[in-house]
Amino acid sequence: MSSYLRPITKENPYKICFVCLGNICRSPTAEGIFIHKVKEAGLELYFYIDSAGTAAYHTGERADSRSRATAADHGVNLPSIARRFEYTDLEEFDLILAMDSSNLRNIKELDRRNRFTEKVFLMRDFDPEPGNKEVPDPYYGGSQGFENVFQILERSSIALLNELKAEIKD
Ligand code: 4NP
Repeated sequence: MSSYLRPITKENPYKICFVCLGNICRSPTAEGIFIHKVKEAGLELYFYIDSAGTAAYHTGERADSRSRATAADHGVNLPSIARRFEYTDLEEFDLILAMDSSNLRNIKELDRRNRFTEKVFLMRDFDPEPGNKEVPDPYYGGSQGFENVFQILERSSIALLNELKAEIKD
């Protein structure tokens, strides 16, 4: 059976793409946190981390200043430059993680032949806290929304990295 899990080596780093709508709030935060956790663990040669948005409105932009400020409060840098998620990303990445069910639906619409179903999931499928599966869009809300997004993404990233660590060989 096919799976998103595979042996991870320096020669063949594991590739993750985090996906939201605008690629300026949620998925850049997930990307920055995961990069931070990977560096803390000394595993940067084993991973390639990126993010993208299902919409193109913000292409070329840095992450939202509120997302960057919230991440900076936690010592996390957000290096993302917004881009649109494309069909070739389905081919390229080992794991594609949507922030909410609308993002997930948009990604699956690109995968018309259902070739990549085993590598496309919701980010909160990895959330150790049960319940809501959506990472709420903080764009039109206050700063508490950005902190809430950070907390969800941090604990989900820790759980995801722990699962993937077991696949690292050498
Ligand atoms: P994101 O948030 O999907 O987490 O990057 C949004 C950013 C921008 C918009 C919507 C959501 N927008 O409508 O411009």
